[in-house]
Amino acid sequence: MMNPFKYGTIVTGKDFADRKDELKLLIQELTSGQNMILYSPRRYGKSSLMINVLEALKNNGILTAYIDMYGCVFLSDLVDDLVEKTVLPAYGTLEKTSKFLRSAFSGIRPEFTVNSDGSFKVSLKKEVASQGEKAVLDKILDAPEQLAKAKGKPLVVVFDEFQEIVNLDGDVLENLMRSHFQHHEHVSYVFMGSKRHILEEIFEDANRPFYRFAKPFPLGKIPIKEFKQFITTKFEETNIHIDSATIDLMLKFTDGHPYFTQQLCHELWNLAYENKTVKEVDVTKAIQELLRIHKDLFVKQWDTLTIHQKKLLVGLSWEERVTKIYASSFIEKYELISSSHVYRAMEPLLKDGTVEKIDDTYSLTDVFFKEWVKSKTRGTTSVD
Ligand SMILES: Nc1ncnc2c1ncn2[C@@H]1O[C@H](COP(=O)(O)OP(=O)(O)OP(=O)(O)O)[C@@H](O)[C@H]1O
Ligand SMILES: [Mg+2]
Repeated sequence: MMNPFKYGTIVTGKDFADRKDELKLLIQELTSGQNMILYSPRRYGKSSLMINVLEALKNNGILTAYIDMYGCVFLSDLVDDLVEKTVLPAYGTLEKTSKFLRSAFSGIRPEFTVNSDGSFKVSLKKEVASQGEKAVLDKILDAPEQLAKAKGKPLVVVFDEFQEIVNLDGDVLENLMRSHFQHHEHVSYVFMGSKRHILEEIFEDANRPFYRFAKPFPLGKIPIKEFKQFITTKFEETNIHIDSATIDLMLKFTDGHPYFTQQLCHELWNLAYENKTVKEVDVTKAIQELLRIHKDLFVKQWDTLTIHQKKLLVGLSWEERVTKIYASSFIEKYELISSSHVYRAMEPLLKDGTVEKIDDTYSLTDVFFKEWVKSKTRGTTSVD
């Protein structure tokens, strides 16, 4: 029997829990032509949510495209993706795709190669080589609007991991994208990512081209009640008995974090598979097993930290809800010297996602890393 708890991949259908309100709202906004920014800390389920949104939009007769900018290392990759992920799926065949591009843009003749799974890879590298990448982009950035018009249907284009734009000649590309997209009447754009500070700089700085171009939509965790229902059903469907208190215990540990909850449930399900029952002690066993698996990674992560960063993480791991990291009581308790030392230690941790700040509370993003830090350190219980 297959383990019903999936993690590390996009989840859809029966593997996708709740998100009813988010689905409804995003479908509504995008159907009405609103551009959106969807952001959250890593692994909260942005990509999964958006793939489910696109599925629903498709069923409503709307054209959709999903471009993952994580793999865009060169500007020409984005050029190719704009055709491969937007135009090709809408036309289905190479002939029709080529015909559309020829009629919409002069001097664009894509090359196609077949992938091992039978799908097609599009390349406009020849055009880029002869005309220059900016000149080709200047045409191809209008492909979404041209496509929507040609098909007589609205189109939703998603750029996942949009923060990667800063590595792709950011300023120039931002200007170029904005100057085209602002004229697109039949296309809604979604910009997604987990590097909040980069997205905020792009969309909230009045001097940047994308200033207020899209409506922010911060994605939270899955509410405990809905997640609990999902977990209960998954265990029930695979004939494994688990009581309500054990699920509560697990969700308390993961704080309802979508990825870590699925990871812990996955491990717990493996442990329970033979005996068909989960006991509370199995939760501890599953956590220990995950700590064992990730030990090398955590050691490496810890070794890269400065002493002040280690002290900060000790504080965040041992205390329940930390809000006042600049208060003198916190600084004294963890020997952090001054608020500027705290700031310098904290900024990189927030930027790389080791720590997340939600409302005013700081916490370690990875609940297993937090547990590992606790297992290795003493906190400051002796000082109190
Ligand atoms: N609605 C959901 N129901 C159940 N599990 C979910 C849900 N959303 C996310 N998950 C869990 O979280 C994992 C990560 O989801 P996903 O890749 O969509 O997140 P993400 O925010 O796009 O992550 P990243 O920041 O790494 O791009 C999934 O593999 C799954 O285990
Ligand atoms: Mg993602």
